[in-house]
Amino acid sequence: MTLLWSRADLLAATSGRFPSSTSSDIAGTGVSIDTRTLRPGDVFIALRGERSNGHEHVAAALHAGAGAVVVHEPCGVDDPRILHVADTLDALRDMARFARARFAGRMVGVTGSVGKTSVKDMLRHALQACGPTHYAVASYNNHWGVPLTLARLPASAAYCVCEIGMNHVGEILPLARMVRPDVAVITTVASSHLGLMGSMDAIAREKAEILCALPAGGTGIIPDGITGETHFIHNAAQAGATLWRVGQSKDCPVYATGLEHDAQGSGFEMHLPHWQGKVRVNAPGRHMAGNAMLALAAAHACGADMDRAVAGLATFAPGAGRGAIARVMQDKVALLDESYNASPDSVRAALDLLGLVATGRRIAVLGDMLELGTFARHEHQALLPAVCANADIVFCCGPNMKTLFDTLPSSLQGGWTPESEQLAPMVRAALRAGDTVMVKGSHGSRMGHVVATLRMDDARVGQA
Ligand SMILES: Nc1ncnc2c1ncn2[C@@H]1O[C@H](COP(=O)(O)OP(=O)(O)OP(=O)(O)O)[C@@H](O)[C@H]1O
Ligand SMILES: [Mg+2]
Repeated sequence: MTLLWSRADLLAATSGRFPSSTSSDIAGTGVSIDTRTLRPGDVFIALRGERSNGHEHVAAALHAGAGAVVVHEPCGVDDPRILHVADTLDALRDMARFARARFAGRMVGVTGSVGKTSVKDMLRHALQACGPTHYAVASYNNHWGVPLTLARLPASAAYCVCEIGMNHVGEILPLARMVRPDVAVITTVASSHLGLMGSMDAIAREKAEILCALPAGGTGIIPDGITGETHFIHNAAQAGATLWRVGQSKDCPVYATGLEHDAQGSGFEMHLPHWQGKVRVNAPGRHMAGNAMLALAAAHACGADMDRAVAGLATFAPGAGRGAIARVMQDKVALLDESYNASPDSVRAALDLLGLVATGRRIAVLGDMLELGTFARHEHQALLPAVCANADIVFCCGPNMKTLFDTLPSSLQGGWTPESEQLAPMVRAALRAGDTVMVKGSHGSRMGHVVATLRMDDARVGQA
């Protein structure tokens, strides 16, 4: 295990205090905020959350072999590994800034309404083929996820990919200033969180803030035709950064030609400022091809060897709940698992994907899209054309999806229930051999129940 945090670095980063008895052999080989996943040698940071308090788990962290434990409340434990700070969340942020400052590789920040994790994962596959790459775990993109990712960044890495998220105005800039990206990618501006943000222009303005954290000479990357493009142009110019539009027109600095989509993925010819070549993406869907173009543009802006990056990208596969396809119900039915989350754009992308991959009947199972506030009714009903174009039978659950369900032609109406628990057996009973079923909904709509019910037989086989 390589040393990530020495005693001296922890003290310098946090201005904290170890007990006077502490010897110099504090050695942090990782950083943890959760004792359930803590590995021996991790620096455990006792964060206080709304529902949990890490200070209650200090003894467990020490017992599990934490290299050091960072606290700001008395926790009734005396141990030379305990580092006292004024505030543990601030200490995590301080560690993030310290780790960022000693990192000499290329830093990428990815933000956007949808597709952040997909682009981040595509990019890290591409970069890992070129050099040691550190990246955000899962969707670690918020006020603790971003600093945790940075605090874990080894100084020796060649590349780092951070995901930066937001629900409210003003969240992007402080996180972006901590990340200090050399390359900033904005995946999409779409109506996710529209209820909290108020307007599409406000969403675009907020996403464009990431460009304010670029250095002069840095690179911003946006998809061609992005909503609120003027905000991106303005902020990139203010930062003295170059802005690359990525699209399918030769007018874009980065563009793709010869796009072909099939049930396994997409292929295209990529044209970058100093490189051109064939690309294969093993994740189906037009949106995944678009994500891949952004990821490759970012790899190029990092100075990566593009032949290697393209080979690395080919090893990317969609994650659970983000478009992974499985055979279920004794191999009779194809399940397109999109249950991780939903927003208007990602539901459209998933419906498009259903139309692309299905060979038999196309079944859409849709749960409510949340956080749309007063726009909810309109945004749900506006899915009608995409649903009619890509599904033969539609099952819905939740009060918002009821408004869509009621406007469907009766031939498409499979069934509606208030909760996903009731919908799951209904969907299962309706499926026939050769069907393709796509399940999608916001995390809070708990569409995972439907996926679990469809996977029931397969899970039993797995356990046998
Ligand atoms: N460019 C895109 N356009 C529309 N939908 C997309 C796009 N990229 C990914 N998706 C879909 O959106 C959903 C979320 O994808 P992903 O996890 O990559 O987004 P995210 O921005 O990281 O989300 P979160 O804010 O929850 O972290 C998935 O269902 C995925 O298939
Ligand atoms: Mg994410």
